[in-house]
Amino acid sequence: MKQEEIQKIDQAMLWHPCSQMKDYEDYPVIPIDHAKGVWLYTQDGRKILDAVSSWWIKIFGHGFEPVKTRIKEQLDKLEQVIFANYTHESAAQLAAHLTGLFDGSLSRVFFGDNGSSAVEIALKMSYHYWYNLGHPEKKEFLYLSGGYHGETMGALSVSALDLYKKIYEPLLPSMGVEIQGPDCFRCPFGLDRDNCDAQCVKALEEKLEKEAGSISAVIIEPILQAASGMKIYSPLYLKKLRQLCSAYHVHLICDEIAAGFGRTGKMMASDHADITPDFACLSKGLTAGFLAFSAVLTREEIYQAFYDDYTKLRAFMHSHSYTGSALGCAAACAVFETFSDPKWMVEINQKGRKIREALQSLADHPQVGEIRSIGMVTAIELVEDKAKKLSFDWKRRLGYQIYRLAEQRGVLLRNLGDIIYFFPPYVINEEEITFMTSTARSAILEVLQGI
Ligand SMILES: Cc1ncc(COP(=O)(O)O)c(C=O)c1O
Repeated sequence: MKQEEIQKIDQAMLWHPCSQMKDYEDYPVIPIDHAKGVWLYTQDGRKILDAVSSWWIKIFGHGFEPVKTRIKEQLDKLEQVIFANYTHESAAQLAAHLTGLFDGSLSRVFFGDNGSSAVEIALKMSYHYWYNLGHPEKKEFLYLSGGYHGETMGALSVSALDLYKKIYEPLLPSMGVEIQGPDCFRCPFGLDRDNCDAQCVKALEEKLEKEAGSISAVIIEPILQAASGMKIYSPLYLKKLRQLCSAYHVHLICDEIAAGFGRTGKMMASDHADITPDFACLSKGLTAGFLAFSAVLTREEIYQAFYDDYTKLRAFMHSHSYTGSALGCAAACAVFETFSDPKWMVEINQKGRKIREALQSLADHPQVGEIRSIGMVTAIELVEDKAKKLSFDWKRRLGYQIYRLAEQRGVLLRNLGDIIYFFPPYVINEEEITFMTSTARSAILEVLQGI
């Protein structure tokens, strides 16, 4: 099909995610014919560098051979089988990999089929654990300002971002309670992220002190709050949070969906603080973006609270049709096998630093509030007033203008408001880093010059 034909049908029949469809009238969707490494090849023969790993999933880039090969082998044997009463070799192999994460104490694995479903599973399991222990009153979930955990009703109810949540507020379960979390760029204590005592954990501590008896769990994105603008916070906050959750008998749910699998320079973002949560939610990079798949890890003690005679009705009666997908398990095994080579973590950190260095010269620009980075994530926050850290009026859509300009020049930078970020596949090479950062730099400067 010709590019225009696809676009015509798309415009007539399709409805794209997280999009105002009217935007596509003067800036149409781009049909992609194929992709390899960091490159998307368009139907009309252009190529675009995928600087956001296609919504943070393609950690090893497009068409990564080791994962492709493993999926093909699995496809010839078994693509899917009902995961109640049945199991398969790839699930067993993957379980061995997953239970080796953190300090090894998350020894039980429950599969889901996307990030939001993993979050729903963790929330339900946490509450159900307390219920089975005779504490049905522990039914609130604390989440942090700036936190994001997905779009399903349960996940939204513990997410903080108004853009995705506000309209549905009347429909959402009332279990979520927002707590002021770390906001290092605009720290209310006037402190520096790398040099503070995580004073901001006080808000959470006070809540737990007063109401732990009615709280099931605290859910967080460890170290990196991705959707709210790649906000990075101190590992000390995480350490303190872990201690508080243990002291007040409240579960800690670490949502590693965006930040896990090397993105922050460690296998899991929680590893920056050497902590182990009570539940870990994994997805996205888990299959290197080949298949919609997720996993929730938890402790044996939590699992045991559900283990009883059937007639006691203590079981976790939760399922998704694609739970334990053989193809998903096979892809995830290939991801773990790939990470067994230590070169990846070294490269993630080295390349991440290079990206940061290449963008550093923008730091003095009067409209660049902050450049922040960790592992292979760098974000540039644009501001109207640097001294006051005042954002631009969002209706001006500066980030969107930069996105469009950069894309026309061959780099996909899907902005988060006025935050331009770099979240590329780990296979990006030096030449591609230079192209990505110089294209972004010129697009940013051009748009800022025009304001
Ligand atoms: C931290 C985090 N949690 C949960 C989700 C939801 O995952 P999914 O889009 O697969 O439902 C996302 C998606 O971006 C995420 O970044």
